[in-house]
Amino acid sequence: MKKLENKSVFITDGLSGIGKACAIAAAKEGANVAVADLKSSDLVRAMEEIKKENPKAIFIECDVSSFTAVKSAIETVVKTFGTLDIALNNAGIGGDANRVGEMSEEAWLKVIGVNLNGVFNCMHHELEYMLTKKSGSIINMSSILGKVGFALSSHYVAAKHGVIGLTQAAALEYATDGIRVNAISPGFIETPLLVKGGISDKPEVKQFVISKHPIGRFGTSEEIAAGFIFLASSDSSFITGTALEIDGGYLAQ
Ligand SMILES: NC(=O)c1ccc[n+]([C@@H]2O[C@H](COP(=O)([O-])OP(=O)(O)OC[C@H]3O[C@@H](n4cnc5c(N)ncnc54)[C@H](O)[C@@H]3O)[C@@H](O)[C@H]2O)c1
Repeated sequence: MKKLENKSVFITDGLSGIGKACAIAAAKEGANVAVADLKSSDLVRAMEEIKKENPKAIFIECDVSSFTAVKSAIETVVKTFGTLDIALNNAGIGGDANRVGEMSEEAWLKVIGVNLNGVFNCMHHELEYMLTKKSGSIINMSSILGKVGFALSSHYVAAKHGVIGLTQAAALEYATDGIRVNAISPGFIETPLLVKGGISDKPEVKQFVISKHPIGRFGTSEEIAAGFIFLASSDSSFITGTALEIDGGYLAQ
């Protein structure tokens, strides 16, 4: 029996890295997947990979930092698949590396706009709909940096801590409405985000970051997708308000 048979799943940032792996995993488990992302050169190839697992998958162009764009994306999902059962609010960016005193207001607002406001925008519209049918499972992508600090990334660290707070507050608010709200806190995962952040393409930086993971390597997007399927499915039916650490032991130290 597939774990998400005929479930309607909304995933933000599903064209690359972790989001794409989660979209493929959900489609493999029988879900109808709606991928919301910015248009990019990855679009055709990524959608082909997802549709190979379930041809019903759709792409919706959506900037998660826009409240109205997200509202319209959720409406499209419900119109296309008839319902919305599961949401993975995953879209996130790294941002420029700077100390707080040297960080521009623009750099701060950009990361907060996507990584924190984007998650609020999604949750607001998802919960409004899920409440009408009193069921749903929401998973927000935080990070190990939602639990501890990391120099030169205050915007990212603050946003990811905020995502965990938002997850816990909403989990309490909707616990008796049949809606579960959880987060995932990945360690460093080898995706294009690490290249953009100047981590996986610089051997000495890469080795330093790897050394912070007791397991001794970066994680893979598929390892995060396995946690997503667990939190999305009824396997986790008594779990709400948690932030699942999938981090090679990073936070155990
Ligand atoms: N890679 C890691 O080490 C790591 C660790 C912990 C948490 N995370 C989190 O996991 C999530 C996915 O990261 P990834 O490594 O797969 O990233 P990635 O860089 O591979 O993919 C980012 C995707 O986000 C999309 N995106 C960017 N801005 C957007 C916006 N405004 N609206 C909609 N989509 C937008 C991009 O188009 C791209 O498809 C992020 O929230 C990230 O913070 C990543």
